[in-house]
Amino acid sequence: MSTFKALQARATESGGFEQVIVSRETEELPAGDLLIRVHYSSLNFKDALSATGNRGVTKNFPHTPGIDAAGVVEASTVAEFSVGDEVIVTGYDLGMNTAGGFGQYIRVPAPWAIKRPKGLSLRETMVLGTAGMTAALCIEKLEQAGLTPDAGTVLVTGATGGVGSVAVALLNQLGYRVAAATGKADQEAFLRQLGAQEIVSRAALEEGTDKPLLKEQWAAAVDCVGGDILFNVVKSLRYGSSVACCGLTAGTSFKGSVLPFILRGVNLLGVDSVELSLVAKASMWDKLSLQWKVDLESLVTEVSLAQLPESIDRILAGKQVGRVLVDLS
Ligand SMILES: NC(=O)c1ccc[n+]([C@@H]2O[C@H](COP(=O)([O-])OP(=O)(O)OC[C@H]3O[C@@H](n4cnc5c(N)ncnc54)[C@H](OP(=O)(O)O)[C@@H]3O)[C@@H](O)[C@H]2O)c1
Repeated sequence: MSTFKALQARATESGGFEQVIVSRETEELPAGDLLIRVHYSSLNFKDALSATGNRGVTKNFPHTPGIDAAGVVEASTVAEFSVGDEVIVTGYDLGMNTAGGFGQYIRVPAPWAIKRPKGLSLRETMVLGTAGMTAALCIEKLEQAGLTPDAGTVLVTGATGGVGSVAVALLNQLGYRVAAATGKADQEAFLRQLGAQEIVSRAALEEGTDKPLLKEQWAAAVDCVGGDILFNVVKSLRYGSSVACCGLTAGTSFKGSVLPFILRGVNLLGVDSVELSLVAKASMWDKLSLQWKVDLESLVTEVSLAQLPESIDRILAGKQVGRVLVDLS
């Protein structure tokens, strides 16, 4: 049995929510095949929802959020994993209703874990985290639908956020011309340094919601925000092209019609990184460790558990820029 530190989200007597650092025992963790000493986690939008009592993400509190974790196996009941193996766990129920990566230990079923690919350090896996995996899945899905770098400009919405910033950097590295849409006018230099060649204001993408179609502009798009912005992007896609939809920061519903689909043959592609099969996750980790390896150091902020509540407030306010890496060592 080991004592460890974890960030715990809990209800306050006044009806609010707070995040506190507590001492826990590994015995208190749920049953599972692998006890993992977590070295790094990362902050995703969903973690901030969990940390502030969103029951759509986490039903029971007190709770330790953290949908991402990378660390070392300290105990294993299965033959596939041995003590000392370096592993990554992202998604499934981690950090939702299973104590997550904002604690120095997790215990999880073996079918949630992937051995660290050789081309990435544990730290690098969590710089990517679920956000990076999701950005890559969006790009892969667009390429499977026929996108190539010579097709034209690819739009990324919510471009300064975790998913968005990795998408901008990865698309740029893969040779695409990238337009970055953002609500943060002061982050143009950051986005250009990641590889964006064009900056689009969020306000511009909010125009035209009442029109059935907009000017054909984008060869493809990675949409991290949803809402009416997503459908305005659908209406601005070039004939036959696609948008990958993965996020909801602008809203979960939108005003739309069938016209872009039946007149321009465009595609709305859904992307999920949580329940994706372990085989598909492992394949994407391999890709991110080799041919899609991208240097993300310029977009990382590293925080301790004690600094996390401030980062949680920032991401909920839509003010996050880049990725937040959580050091639990
Ligand atoms: N499908 C999946 O498997 C999956 C996986 C990971 C994340 N997600 C979702 O993807 C989204 C992005 O996640 P993240 O971790 O990257 O979050 P994030 O770092 O907070 O990025 C979201 C970005 O959205 C933009 N934004 C914020 N509020 C907005 C608003 N009201 N209207 C329009 N844009 C707004 C901001 O970018 P700008 O200021 O640059 O516009 C913000 O930085 C979240 O909705 C998350 O739940 C889904």
